[in-house]
Amino acid sequence: MENSERRKFLGICLGGLAAAGAAGAAWPVLRYLSPKAGTGGAAKVVIPEKELPEGEAKFFEYAGASAVVIRKRGGDIVALSAVCTHLGCIVQWQKARQEFLCPCHAGMFTAEGEVISGPPPKALTRLPFTVAEGAVTVG
Ligand code: FES
Repeated sequence: MENSERRKFLGICLGGLAAAGAAGAAWPVLRYLSPKAGTGGAAKVVIPEKELPEGEAKFFEYAGASAVVIRKRGGDIVALSAVCTHLGCIVQWQKARQEFLCPCHAGMFTAEGEVISGPPPKALTRLPFTVAEGAVTVG
């Protein structure tokens, strides 16, 4: 093997290693930001009301995807899919602002899931729920 061929071969090997390293580093981030799908999740989820103080949100798995229940300041309860309607990242609750932020492209939603700003094309999906005997039942 001549010198130039060796250099070319070494370059290909190092490029492959760099690509594998980058993919390995990106994988945990992508898994964190992507909605979980197909892993089950109960058809109904019961959340004790005491776990939902005013202004707080509780995230959980519902029908195989991330969901959230919020008790707004004033006491109203809202149940939503936590999957952003843009590209499917999981939204985060911004307690101080009482809004949702999507960490992927800065989409903002109200506590009711309506789009405030950013690229999301539509509101977060509302989920059916009932409140009885000190518990919120989603589904
Ligand atoms: S995925 Fe949420 S703003 Fe893009």
